[in-house]
Amino acid sequence: MEHELPEYTERQLSLKNGQDSPEIWVAYKGLIYDMTHSLKWYRGMHYHHWSGQDLTDEIDKAPHSEQVFLKFLPIGKLKK
Ligand code: HEM
Repeated sequence: MEHELPEYTERQLSLKNGQDSPEIWVAYKGLIYDMTHSLKWYRGMHYHHWSGQDLTDEIDKAPHSEQVFLKFLPIGKLKK
C-alpha cells in the first residue's frame, strides 16, 4: 500500500520559515521538504529565496536543477 503523506495548507507551510518557527519547509511540485537541517537554508533563507512557500516556479532562477531535492524525503503534501 502506498504510504500516505500528511497534507498541509499554504497557511501552515507559511509559518515554517525559520523565523516564525524553527522549522524550515519548502514546497516543490506538490511535495513539502524539510530543510531545517540544511546549512544552505540557514534561518529559512536560501540565496534570496524564503522558505515557508511553494518555490516550484523559482527553480528556473537557480544555478542548479531539481536534483538538489533528491537527497531529501518529502515530509508532506501541499493541500490544493
Ligand atoms: C536563485 C538563486 C539560487 C542559488 C544561487 C542557489 C544556490 C544553491 C547552491 C550553491 C546549493 C548547493 C550546491 C548544490 O547542491 O548544487 C544549493 C542547494 C539547494 N538549493 Fe538552491 N539556489 C537558488 C535557488 C533555489 C530555489 C529557488 C530552490 C527551490 C526551488 C532551491 C533549492 C535548493 C535545495 C533543496 C538545495 C539542497 C540543500 C542541501 O543540500 O542542503 N534553490 N542551492
